[in-house]
Amino acid sequence: MHLTFRQIEVFTAVARHENYTRAAQELHLSQPAVSMQIRQLEQGIGLPLFEQIGKKIHLTEAGRHMYAVGRQIADVLGEAEEVFEAFKGVERGTLAISVATTASHFATRLLAEYSKQHTGITISLDITNREALRSQLENNEPDLVIMGQPPEGVEVEADAFMENPLVVIAAPNHPLAQRRSIPLSEFEQANFVVRETGSGTRSAAERFFEQQGVAFHTAIEMTSNEAIKQAVQAGLGLGIVSSHTLELELQTGRLTILDVEDFPIRRHWYMIQRKGKRLSPAAIAFKQFVLDEAKRFEAVAGL
Ligand code: PGA
Repeated sequence: MHLTFRQIEVFTAVARHENYTRAAQELHLSQPAVSMQIRQLEQGIGLPLFEQIGKKIHLTEAGRHMYAVGRQIADVLGEAEEVFEAFKGVERGTLAISVATTASHFATRLLAEYSKQHTGITISLDITNREALRSQLENNEPDLVIMGQPPEGVEVEADAFMENPLVVIAAPNHPLAQRRSIPLSEFEQANFVVRETGSGTRSAAERFFEQQGVAFHTAIEMTSNEAIKQAVQAGLGLGIVSSHTLELELQTGRLTILDVEDFPIRRHWYMIQRKGKRLSPAAIAFKQFVLDEAKRFEAVAGL
């Protein structure tokens, strides 16, 4: 038995109208074309689907079954069309976001907010360092990346969207905690607890000290800002972190920001995508959401 979708579509129209001529009009076909499709369908099934009684046509028992099948197929196709339309919109699909370790402090909150507004989107969030983000972009893996500076050697489109000030942190009882305008040269002998190689924060701090001609001593390396903050609290050394990671520790007085000349190191966050990448509607909406939220945040914070 070989049935085609076209035959079933023509049959369903005839069955609905119980009339060949009206079905032909609806489908913009000639009446002989409609009759031919029905004949072929009946041949394929091996049973008559219509019977003519007087001037009227009626469905046979097989015809009634075929009609039920035809309506089911039409329903399924209608649903599929809705799904495809939704894929074109923002309400379905997936969103792959990768952010720098440091950006996770605010990006997670933004993603949660976005996800509440777009419940049909499945989101994956990868949190990793700058170097790993660079290779992800090279391999065209994430839809969008949030990081501290556009990567070198990969063609990207980058939108700066919020300040990312790097500050020097110390335990509140540190001897420098009460000093004002501390010259950078005083840190020549200091020990810093730093992020791993490949971290944007680390390379920005190293670059800054080098530009200022001051030696930068790293006491110990850690792969997370949380660990650095705890080590600094415990008196293991000083730290340089983004002020975005500090909200809680400053509120509770567990850490203090030192007043160092030429600090903070001024950086920005960037929303990044591979050049030429065609963003899905979900990704476009996320990008716009973050850029709008950042503007609102900066307006409130008076930045
Ligand atoms: P980091 O990220 O977590 O790699 O230090 C911030 C950045 O890209 O500057």
